[in-house]
Amino acid sequence: MKVLIVGSGGREHAIATSVAKSPRVDKIYCAPGNAGIGQLAECVDIAAMEFDKLAQFAKDNQIDLTIVGMDDPLVGGIVDVFEEKGLRVFGPRKNAAILEGSKAFSKDLMKKYNIPTAAYENFDDSQKALEYLETAQFPIVLKADGLALGKGVLICNTLEEAKEGVKSIMLDKQFGSAGNTMVIEEFMTGREVSVLSYVDGKTIKTMTSAQDHKRAKDGDQGLNTGGMGTFSPSPFYTKEVDEFCKKYIYQATVDAMAAEGREFKGIIFFGLMLTGKGPKVLEYNARFGDPEAQVVLPRMKNDIIDVVEACIDGKLDEIDLQFEDNAAVCVVLASDGYPVKYEKGLEIRGLDNFNGKDGYYWKMSYPVQTIRCCLGKNVLWIKTI
Ligand code: AMP
Ligand code: GLY
Repeated sequence: MKVLIVGSGGREHAIATSVAKSPRVDKIYCAPGNAGIGQLAECVDIAAMEFDKLAQFAKDNQIDLTIVGMDDPLVGGIVDVFEEKGLRVFGPRKNAAILEGSKAFSKDLMKKYNIPTAAYENFDDSQKALEYLETAQFPIVLKADGLALGKGVLICNTLEEAKEGVKSIMLDKQFGSAGNTMVIEEFMTGREVSVLSYVDGKTIKTMTSAQDHKRAKDGDQGLNTGGMGTFSPSPFYTKEVDEFCKKYIYQATVDAMAAEGREFKGIIFFGLMLTGKGPKVLEYNARFGDPEAQVVLPRMKNDIIDVVEACIDGKLDEIDLQFEDNAAVCVVLASDGYPVKYEKGLEIRGLDNFNGKDGYYWKMSYPVQTIRCCLGKNVLWIKTI
């Protein structure tokens, strides 16, 4: 079969690597792709938000299955466009991708269905938000409602900082229209864990856990980024935590979406915080994590095409999802200055030295030139150039 992957990051490279392993797949395309993906797939020069062009490409090239990796096209409704044209596509429709596209929506959903999360209030009026802050406890967390490249969260230690935050999100529109509405949320402490899952509308199967490392620079000295590295599994995601989340979070979320008439098919990524009062949901994403996919997918034993098709067809209950009993780590090498001001499109040289026996690498050119290395077996395999 022929598969099209939509996206251009290390995550899409990880998806392409899994797809390439399937004996059912003859040809992979990736739009727009990147230099590393180009070693496995044919890159197509169509941007991820050009839905009509992508659908036309899929029709013209008899694509059997399209897998959407990125959040923007999912939230923008790419799945609806493909389905209207009779194309087979993996990912949530627009009305379900709102789980990631609106933090205010997802917080209200959790409140309505008693899914554990931080206490919060939603605001679409900056004056009301400022008044609320006068009586709030600090630190406090401000979140722009919409997509903001993973940067729309501000943790504020004082009233002054929080007032500045409201101003920059709601009035100065630091994150554009994503800041038209804002969530103000209780600050929580604890270990963070990422749990990705496959969902077919009613059944959910979680993948192995991972932990993202968000801050740049050694010793957590730098700014928050889209992710500087990951490892899987997380030693903090114990059997007890898993049991709690299965009981109160995972199926409850899928059922809540179905009850709201927003049947979710695709990936739900649960960003969890393991607090002193039990696991709570920090955020939902409606896609594989980047760089979580780079450590989770290589450990999956199943043929990814079988799993993805089972989600589309509502037959996930027939899949026995299995992961290898090993570990993986991903290290991101970013262009100097990331995440503030940095050069893009730099060539990476010396990659031949990365082809170790137990590991392999990914190369990408967006949003920064990075090498993501993943470990095979149980061996730590990192080598810098
Ligand atoms: P999010 O995009 O919602 O995952 O937030 C980005 C990061 O901000 C998370 O990975 C946490 O490190 C932090 N964060 C978000 N919400 C909270 C909260 N309520 N309490 C403490 N930290 C938070
Ligand atoms: N690594 C976090 C994310 O993909 O949103």
